[in-house]
Amino acid sequence: MSDMAVTRELFDQVMVPNYAPAEVIPVRGQGARVWDQQNREYIDFAGGIAVNCLGHCHPALVSALKEQGEKLWHLSNVLTNEPALRLAKKLVDATFADKVYFCNSGAEANEAALKLARRYAIDHFGADKTQIIAFKQGFHGRTFFTVTVGGQAAYSDGFGPKPADVDHVEYNDLDALKAMMSDRTCAVVMEPLQGEGGIISPEPDFVKAVRELCDQHNALLVFDEVQTGVGRTGASMPTWIWA
Ligand SMILES: Cc1ncc(COP(=O)(O)O)c(C=O)c1O
Repeated sequence: MSDMAVTRELFDQVMVPNYAPAEVIPVRGQGARVWDQQNREYIDFAGGIAVNCLGHCHPALVSALKEQGEKLWHLSNVLTNEPALRLAKKLVDATFADKVYFCNSGAEANEAALKLARRYAIDHFGADKTQIIAFKQGFHGRTFFTVTVGGQAAYSDGFGPKPADVDHVEYNDLDALKAMMSDRTCAVVMEPLQGEGGIISPEPDFVKAVRELCDQHNALLVFDEVQTGVGRTGASMPTWIWA
């Protein structure tokens, strides 16, 4: 099997064309450089992608991976494990959060946050409090609930009835948000800085006003920090946002 010819054409034969990768197939990387099957060298200006912008094969990462791989590979949720507990403690100590939930993707994290927000609102305020407000051109993942909340028709339409009671307003448009919100609002979901939408920063007063509106209407404010979290954008959010 390892002698099999692996070419870009093979992608078109055996892979679902969800993406259209370049002709080049990198086989090795080091720092900012990658080499293809013909040993041609490239500089990878992305250094990975999105949150995985770690460059290629940093020795510290390779060694951590090897060390754990030789110790214990995988466990089910029936058992916990030391690395997960160490990481959870570090995250709790470094952030506003009291608890950590690990999952496989940003979509899954947001799906869980949306379900949790709905359950919380229904349990505490009644069955009518289900409206989720999000921002146009947002992105929150590829599940049906998260593409619906994402507000980009290209991702969410054409699959029949969507999860209900999801509304959208323009990012940074406080008046539109005010007009849309009521005591029926369960949660407002926002990226603290829109990524896929085109790297759009919020006006500082906008985020503060969203926080206040949520408090006023007993709505939860869900920050999707899949791209922006863990200090990737520099200094952390001011603490009043979490209050
Ligand atoms: C803001 C934001 N939320 C959620 C996601 C979805 O994350 P994942 O691709 O890990 O499901 C992404 C990117 O893909 C994102 O940019």
